[in-house]
Amino acid sequence: MNILAFETSCDETAVAVVRDGRTILDSAVLSQTDLHALYGGVVPEIASRSHLETITPMARKVAEHHKIDAVAATAAPGLIGALLVGLNFAKGYAMAARLPLIPVHHIRGHIAAVYLSEPELRPPFLAAVVSGGHTLLIEVRDYTDMSVVGGTRDDAAGEAFDKAARVLGLGYPGGAALSRLAEKGDSGRYAFPRAVVKDAPFDMSFSGVKTALINLIHNAKQLYGDDWTEEIDLPSVAASFERAVVEVLTDRICGAADALGCESVVLAGGVAANRTLCAALRERLGEKIHIPPVNLCGDNAAMIGSQAYYEAQNGAYAPLSQNAFATFPPDNQALCSG
Ligand code: KG4
Ligand code: ZN
Repeated sequence: MNILAFETSCDETAVAVVRDGRTILDSAVLSQTDLHALYGGVVPEIASRSHLETITPMARKVAEHHKIDAVAATAAPGLIGALLVGLNFAKGYAMAARLPLIPVHHIRGHIAAVYLSEPELRPPFLAAVVSGGHTLLIEVRDYTDMSVVGGTRDDAAGEAFDKAARVLGLGYPGGAALSRLAEKGDSGRYAFPRAVVKDAPFDMSFSGVKTALINLIHNAKQLYGDDWTEEIDLPSVAASFERAVVEVLTDRICGAADALGCESVVLAGGVAANRTLCAALRERLGEKIHIPPVNLCGDNAAMIGSQAYYEAQNGAYAPLSQNAFATFPPDNQALCSG
């Protein structure tokens, strides 16, 4: 079964064709990062308009060489205007080509990235979805049967990386740049807090560590004025910050895997590109940890096409009245309004 999939929930326009949930036949991702960098964050209306301009030529190019059996699109969660562009395009395509429509939850899609990189891996496992918008621990019992067991109470881990990077003058989105700077630093030099959420052993909070970094830089600017960058060891600030975030993530992910008796753990989402996090998880979990390659960890449509296959096996086809939702729990089966 070949599924044509669309992903437009944030600032990547993505189209792919995936066979039977496991094989990428074609995949294109167009990042809008340059358009939003000027504003230091994603501007929803610019994102929607850019998706609108690029989705048609991208779809034509990706779909033209394949026999398509069904059409899928991310229907939640995300920027509502951005989601509507991809979902509505998918509906139009499905209607014109008389094909069934499969709505997909973006977080379920992030998890499915691992089905593309590891064709033999199947649930059950614990999934950690760590991105700019989400930090969630999900017990995946089967392809479409899952429960959220933990998550962040405030900032997503990637969001904390991006805000820290901005204060350090590393641009937007600065997670990867902060991590590169950290390679030259001493991660034990600055003390950053590791928050614990009372009575919720698998929950996290990253606003405290972010604020601590902002205060450190703010105080340095007040003390040293324009010379602050010479007085502060920036690579070590980045390394100490990264270590604090990575330790919290690793601790919660491993704690949840232990408590739930999970034999496999899957890391997904853009922050899975962080080498310190991957190394820490490999050290703690060995063969148990599964991490898709970087191009499948960030937003893409192949992961949506993969999850769509399993939603379809479950009969989750939608009518052409299917709506999009800015927020929606990933463990609720009712996303499909069919
Ligand atoms: O999954 P993704 O592409 O988009 C969202 O759905 O959010 O994740 C992007 C996030 C950004 O916050 C970015 O700064 C972060 O992933 N990121 C990293 C690294 N590479 C990307 N954070 C830390 N270290 C990295 N190497
Ligand atoms: Zn994402």
